[in-house]
Amino acid sequence: MSLAGKRILLIVGGGIAAYKCLELIRRLRERGAAVRCILTKAGAEFVTPLSLSALSEDKVYQDLFDLTAEAEMGHIQLSRDADLLVVAPATADLMARMAGGQANDLASTTLLATDKPVMIAPAMNVRMWEHPATQRNLGQLLADGVLQVGPNEGNMACNEFGFGRMAEPDEILSAIEKHFDGHAATRPLDGLTALVTSGPTHEAIDPVRYIANRSSGKQGHAIAAALADLGAETVLVSGPSSEPDPTGVRLVRVESARDMLAACRAALPADIAVCAAAVADWRVDGAAGQKIKKRNGAPPALSFAENPDILKTMSRLRKDRPKLVVGFAAETEDLIENARAKRDRKGCDWIVANDVSPDTGTFGGDNNRVHLVTGDTVEDWPKMSKNEVADRLANRIAGHFADAAE
Ligand code: CTP
Repeated sequence: MSLAGKRILLIVGGGIAAYKCLELIRRLRERGAAVRCILTKAGAEFVTPLSLSALSEDKVYQDLFDLTAEAEMGHIQLSRDADLLVVAPATADLMARMAGGQANDLASTTLLATDKPVMIAPAMNVRMWEHPATQRNLGQLLADGVLQVGPNEGNMACNEFGFGRMAEPDEILSAIEKHFDGHAATRPLDGLTALVTSGPTHEAIDPVRYIANRSSGKQGHAIAAALADLGAETVLVSGPSSEPDPTGVRLVRVESARDMLAACRAALPADIAVCAAAVADWRVDGAAGQKIKKRNGAPPALSFAENPDILKTMSRLRKDRPKLVVGFAAETEDLIENARAKRDRKGCDWIVANDVSPDTGTFGGDNNRVHLVTGDTVEDWPKMSKNEVADRLANRIAGHFADAAE
């Protein structure tokens, strides 16, 4: 893809991965993009302004209080004179300052002053990357609309192994190309189908009474909307919920767990299944056909039968098993341990663990604090709105399918 006429402002932070920027600039220039660089003080410890300037064929900006530069081009203009700002390497410190809205050097001031899209390519030691502070900052940046590419897993300069290696120049380049090729960038799930369950189920006692739970359907609805936003053809099978119908989604309304399972089966095949519904585990065995009347004496004794497990059924299908099955684990104790056990028991690929203890306000509330359990790894996500959780999950799903396609 040609990037002719595109202007990239590359902010080079202070990390060993800064050397990869030289190759990135070369590739961007080959594709016709104009590249202008800001080099942070720490970045200058790793690459020289001279090499950046030679490759970009432009002046390199370093100092907020450089009067000559300000006279030529003020930092506000510098921040707006580009089509995209790329921060590579985005160090833990730079990410923290971006998330906090600080403006204490030219890079952070420019990032705060810009009205253009920003992409970060994080690079740092694995512990720093996994630290809750960095993850909190990342969550904030993503919520602010910042685009992210990488980091990758691998050996690090510090002799450790894990996530934190900056994405390769090729990957950053293709993320930039995707960004400009709007369709591909914003709709990475085009051509895929998704099935999402949401809300509670109502299990009839008689024609007027039922057993239910406190699920609002907020999280499941938001996930369906987020998947559809990324281009997936999405069916949302929802129990009774007062959430507004998400746009761009085919909504199938159901009452009971058994209805929900039937609707899910009917929606197959699907590439992605996300089971976010709080399905009632039991139904009343032999619900009464007529309203149960008060009789003098003992209240009616209800006996229960176990409901089908939709997540387990989807995960264990021989034919038509969705390529990626994601479940939720609503727990009130031993969150991660229980979630891991649940993932094994149900046979799903990923599980989103959330603490639904009453003091968290998760059930029915607007926010959620979740942990994504994928295989052996657990990602701790900071507390964020259910919409943000949905966006981040949809993006992770898109990333998974992009990796699988390579
Ligand atoms: N689930 C389902 N069908 C059921 C019960 C649960 O599809 N009959 C799904 C939920 O949508 C969720 C996951 O299973 O994705 C876990 O739900 P949860 O209520 O946490 O677990 P349970 O299976 O009910 O296990 P337990 O109550 O013993 O923790």
